[in-house]
Amino acid sequence: MNETRPDSLASFWMPFTNNRDFKASPRLLVSAAGVHYRDVDGNAILDGTAGLWCVPCGHAQPKIVAAVREMVGQLDFAPTFQMGHPAAFELADKLMAYTNHRYGHVFYTNSGSEAVDTALKIALAYHRARGEGSRTRLIGRERGYHGVGFGGISVGGIAANRKPYGPLLPGVDHLPHTHNLEKNAFTRGEPEYGAHLADELERLVTLHDASMIAAVIVEPVAGSTGVLVPPKGYLKRLRELCTKHGILLIFDEVITGFGRMTTPFAADYFDVEPDMMTTAKGLTNGTVPMGAVFTKAFLHDAFLDAPAGIELFHGYTYSGHPLACAASLATLEVFEEQDILGHAKGLQDYWADAVYSLKDLPHVIDLRVIGLIAGIELASIPGKPGARAYAAFKQAFADGVLIRVTGDIIALSPPLVFEKQHIDELFGKLAKVLKGLD
Ligand SMILES: Cc1ncc(COP(=O)(O)O)c(C=O)c1O
Repeated sequence: MNETRPDSLASFWMPFTNNRDFKASPRLLVSAAGVHYRDVDGNAILDGTAGLWCVPCGHAQPKIVAAVREMVGQLDFAPTFQMGHPAAFELADKLMAYTNHRYGHVFYTNSGSEAVDTALKIALAYHRARGEGSRTRLIGRERGYHGVGFGGISVGGIAANRKPYGPLLPGVDHLPHTHNLEKNAFTRGEPEYGAHLADELERLVTLHDASMIAAVIVEPVAGSTGVLVPPKGYLKRLRELCTKHGILLIFDEVITGFGRMTTPFAADYFDVEPDMMTTAKGLTNGTVPMGAVFTKAFLHDAFLDAPAGIELFHGYTYSGHPLACAASLATLEVFEEQDILGHAKGLQDYWADAVYSLKDLPHVIDLRVIGLIAGIELASIPGKPGARAYAAFKQAFADGVLIRVTGDIIALSPPLVFEKQHIDELFGKLAKVLKGLD
């Protein structure tokens, strides 16, 4: 296998990576199948993170691989500006059916970041199309992650992702985050404390007036800042307030969509209906890049009163790329044929028990679990935030399991096709790693 090692690692400027550290001791993956990667030295690595939250059906899923292979030979590319190809329409119908027809339309993008920027643009254009052009303010949340476009980092709430990039979008406010270790540490599922934090939206409405506010965007479960589960009743309250004030509610379901919560979307899990959902990742099982914005029918229909012509001046060269559509169609089939959601539901209690088996291990100051997601928060080494979890990540990889860390929080999100023995292996190895940490 060594022959696949590249001659040099220098030229690739790696994303969200400590390039110097990585290039001094690289972790190179050369193949994947099922719930395992294989590294360049031939070691099997159990995938505790579904890649980057994006492979619900497992790697190299045969049906998805075959569908992409077939499509690339048949239609390598087709524009979707003023023309189209059948798979893009077929997929859109199937995606609407996947929401039980609660959403009327889907707009294709290539990533979660683009889906977020698209949803924000649709929100602004929608209000303008209805003669409410003063509704331009966007509201995100502290500790939110909405990708890396200028829209996404503006409504996002992570200082490191914002501070190098200037003033960002004007007219953005943030709700407070809901993380509270003092009140909620070691809660299984939704914490009791914090629904009132949604009422901060009222304060912003009082400050600006509702007629100035276009949309609120939140992750139903914040993933990238360390698995922050919403307090009981919080999302319902946010929905009520948005409805009351004519503000659109967008759920960023890029990681929670497609079964991560054991339901099609987190919106189903929490029984709260946003006006738009942004998705990506599991949409194609991670096989081909694709994102999608699901919109309620009324949003799309508001543009039909405009003079004849292009309704929405927005789109990407690769919106609805044939390979992505083929991958997504096959993914939806696999979800159905293999009852991926049923399987995930059957695993969730075992998963939660395994997470809680770490409770008394060194440095663990909180455990959070919902669906097939887990957050394990470690005490930071004084003066070195993030160092402890990063050490855990490197040791776990050396021991043959892939975990993900953000700050001093370990975030786990396995492929939904995990079996109990994989959970045992993941948490067995992780426990050993935690016991060995400084
Ligand atoms: C909630 C959320 N939104 C948006 C994104 C951005 O997606 P992408 O990296 O595909 O642009 C992510 C990525 O992790 C995410 O977790």
